[in-house]
Amino acid sequence: MIHESGHPLIKSLVNHLRDIRIDALRFRHLVMEITSLLAYEALTEAPLVQREIPTWQGDYNATLIDEEKLLFATILRAGMPMLEGLERLFAHVPCGFLAMRRDEETKESILYYDRIPPCEGKTVMLADVMVATGGSLSDAIDLIKAKNPARIVTLNIIGAPEGLAHIIRKHPDVDIFIAQIDEKLNADKFILPGLGDAGDRSYNTT
Ligand code: PRP
Repeated sequence: MIHESGHPLIKSLVNHLRDIRIDALRFRHLVMEITSLLAYEALTEAPLVQREIPTWQGDYNATLIDEEKLLFATILRAGMPMLEGLERLFAHVPCGFLAMRRDEETKESILYYDRIPPCEGKTVMLADVMVATGGSLSDAIDLIKAKNPARIVTLNIIGAPEGLAHIIRKHPDVDIFIAQIDEKLNADKFILPGLGDAGDRSYNTT
């Protein structure tokens, strides 16, 4: 199921990302902040746990998000600032990494690095900036599903309807929390109006 944010703060920050005058530092910072806001929306059904915590008034029985049931994952490299946005919220959640690149001829994603820890029983929050054709995200979901998580939630900044339709078709059981669904893909499979190449914009490459 797709959950597109309707929040003006998120929409506004995404539009700042479109501005090509911002530098890589500001770009990564905005990606990180938007991800924290997406996590806020995605964690309304988070697994909870009761814990006794020592406070200035003695022990207190607190309700907390159960970090032991969470796992964060991202796709290099544009997803790195997204992961940072999640790590800032939770100190104890394991993080996994996938590296994929798009074959410029076929436009298909090619996996070249896989460090996803065991996912059994976990809610996996998979962060990737863009859903263009949906190939990378769909392949990443396949890899994570093979590790038997309890649930997969994706966090995405921007997507094209074509790519999102592909994900929903292949993975109807996955919840997609996305900041902005844009208009379409161009002939080169870039999102329009989009952000350009988020990896390049994050790390000053072309
Ligand atoms: C981007 C983006 C996604 C992928 C989306 O990564 O971060 O992972 O493209 O495209 P798709 O939906 O058509 O698969 P990119 O390949 O540009 O790598 P990068 O993050 O290293 O720049």
